[in-house]
Amino acid sequence: MKKDDLERVIKGTPIQSIYAFDTITSTNDFGLAQLHEGADAPDWTLIVADKQTAGRGRLNRRWVTEAGAGLAFSLILRLTDNEAEHVNLFSPIGALAVSEALEAGYGLQPAIKWPNDVLLGGKKTSGILAETSWLGEVMRGLVIGIGINITPAAIPPPEMLMFPATCVESETGHAVDRLDLLHMIIASLAEWRKQLATPEFYGAWEGRLAFRGEAVRVERPAGDPLIGIVLGISANGDLRLMLDKGGEVHISVGDVRLRPVVEFK
Ligand code: BTN
Repeated sequence: MKKDDLERVIKGTPIQSIYAFDTITSTNDFGLAQLHEGADAPDWTLIVADKQTAGRGRLNRRWVTEAGAGLAFSLILRLTDNEAEHVNLFSPIGALAVSEALEAGYGLQPAIKWPNDVLLGGKKTSGILAETSWLGEVMRGLVIGIGINITPAAIPPPEMLMFPATCVESETGHAVDRLDLLHMIIASLAEWRKQLATPEFYGAWEGRLAFRGEAVRVERPAGDPLIGIVLGISANGDLRLMLDKGGEVHISVGDVRLRPVVEFK
């Protein structure tokens, strides 16, 4: 990545520091290392790579980033005490920022599969992995990693997919400049960070919620899967579900898996 290109990416954004790599293991791993003792990466440090050799997804899955095919980056954010109280909302913020950029820049209509996968035409095009680094009880910072399938080469083979996938260029039908998209995402994320946990934020998130009014199955690490109709998002970011057996439940952001179900009785 050229210096001029990177200057264009960060112009008008709060980015304080940039690391750009042709190849790296994982931009999130690099970000977490920068938060370890002795490292002093500032708030709004950007780490971007053309290729990741050990990209990671949620729930210990792999995230493949081949050169020229995807957009893979992480941001180091040093959270204020108030922000740290809402740390779970940073991956939805990322999803909102990716969605807004795809809509504003390319006229697409992204939806957010709760809590934070971005779908185009019902297929996953972007995933977010937010991780924190702690020193005892004190949070050193957050690394929010965003991966976006840009060209068809970024779409993993079907046997690796947990959910149908697409890429931005298949949806736009034309080439997309990854650095333009990166700029728009960072700018949008900076705006939503200021509105963390506000009614506007929850409203925007809910407004983009995928499968609203439809039946979904939510798999949880502990407990049986839940099947119900997606009602919306509660005042603290929980998913509101009307259970098939009756009654509304709220599910907190965590390691859950949500997918549509075809039948619902
Ligand atoms: C998911 O959908 O499971 C989350 C995928 C997150 C992938 C991004 S790519 C940039 C950053 N570096 C990583 O190793 N993972 C995240």
